[in-house]
Amino acid sequence: MHSKVNIVILAAGLGTRMKSKKAKVLHKAGGRTLIEHVVHTASSITDPQWITVVVGHQRHQVESILAPTGVRFVEQAEQKGTGHALLMCRAGLEERGGLVVVIYGDGPLLSAATIQRLIDTQESGTSAATLITTRMEDPSGYGRVLLNHRGYVTAIVEQKAATPEQLQMKLANSGIYCFRADPLWKHIGEIQTNNPAHEYYLTDMAEILTRAGNTVAAMEVHNQQELLGINTGVELAYVDAIFRQRKVNELMLAGVTIEKPETVVVDSQARIGMDTILEPNTRILGNTVIGEDCHIGAGSIVQDSHLADRVEILPFTYLASSRVDADVHIGPFARLRMQNHVESGAHIGNFVELKKTHLGAGAKASHLAYLGDSEIGANVNIGAGTITCNYDGVKKHQTQIGAGAFVGSNSTLVAPVQIGEGSYVGAGSVITAAVPAGALALGRGRQVIKEGWVENRKKGA
Ligand code: UD1
Ligand code: MG
Repeated sequence: MHSKVNIVILAAGLGTRMKSKKAKVLHKAGGRTLIEHVVHTASSITDPQWITVVVGHQRHQVESILAPTGVRFVEQAEQKGTGHALLMCRAGLEERGGLVVVIYGDGPLLSAATIQRLIDTQESGTSAATLITTRMEDPSGYGRVLLNHRGYVTAIVEQKAATPEQLQMKLANSGIYCFRADPLWKHIGEIQTNNPAHEYYLTDMAEILTRAGNTVAAMEVHNQQELLGINTGVELAYVDAIFRQRKVNELMLAGVTIEKPETVVVDSQARIGMDTILEPNTRILGNTVIGEDCHIGAGSIVQDSHLADRVEILPFTYLASSRVDADVHIGPFARLRMQNHVESGAHIGNFVELKKTHLGAGAKASHLAYLGDSEIGANVNIGAGTITCNYDGVKKHQTQIGAGAFVGSNSTLVAPVQIGEGSYVGAGSVITAAVPAGALALGRGRQVIKEGWVENRKKGA
């Protein structure tokens, strides 16, 4: 039997123990918000239209981050407990029936395989619900699961409400459940607030369903890491490290060489081709795609960029929102700030900054330059110290340099300005007017020689 699967993700709480103004599920681990991880996992189990996210704290931010996924939202304006959060979904889900899987927005390590196993366990029996349990050395903070002699759950006792004897029990509630929709929606209204926190505890459903003549099954899992819910900054860092390690392991198994992988950060969405080498302390962030046989030097950061094959990035280079074609060399200490396109075979050397610049194939800017808002043709040579003056204090202006032009060292190109194909700009020039193709432009003071000047001065002449 295959029932319709609905997944509810509880994500309305602020997460007080994070000591942050930001809602807990908006914090990031592995380069993605916690809630995105959970939605991503849930999406591999059921269609996004059957995933309901219960939102409350900073719901507008949560909803806008998740908008592209197509999940549904239900607001829980006041956080009156996990039972109350699920109750908010009744109107939208009751009619559909099937199964209702409940997971938490702050548990990003839960795998799709475990959710699927929970669903299969629920489907294989006649219980009204199945919940995931795990045996812990120290289950403090977790609800304790009470079983009867047949192994069915009779109740879940929250830490705050447990007797000293119940606190000794090691079987903990993960907070992940799969309910049959009919008994769930029929009885959820029976949850009361008669507990020390005066909250509607979803955990009370175990006792309520049992009292109504149903059984509630327990599915024990041994990989406790998967069940980890993040409550503090320390746990966030721990989970982040797990995601980082998973990602670099996955890449290394796919043929990427990573030196000192424990120092390397690669975001979940990033893709890297075979035989590419990442040196220590590199950070590959956002939606970056790196081709094959590339080399990313130590300490470099590549963010939201697209690198083709055989690109060589020397150490301590920063690239953001840029496109780099094959066989390009960049760095060390270069900065490609945003929206650049560097064509194949180009060279960008140390202390060169590019912004909104298109650098043609085979062009070179080997040392100390600022190239902003520029269109630079193929095989252009940009001398050391060249600056495009793209900003007049009010507006940004374009610089165009035709293919094969040679811009001498320490030139100042005052935009808007055009430098024609194959032309030469003499070193140290300030260029304020268009240079025709094939011309030599000199815009500097002429050198003066005064023979014997030093000797004459000494004589007081
Ligand atoms: C819950 C369980 C506990 C279990 C533990 C596992 C209850 C009563 N207790 O406790 O048995 O061992 O998880 O981690 O369920 N949330 C809402 N609205 C609310 C309250 C909570 O959306 O009104 C969301 C939170 O944002 C969070 C999740 O539900 O994502 C869990 O809430 P939390 O307060 O952390 O429950 P625990 O005390 O951890
Ligand atoms: Mg919790």
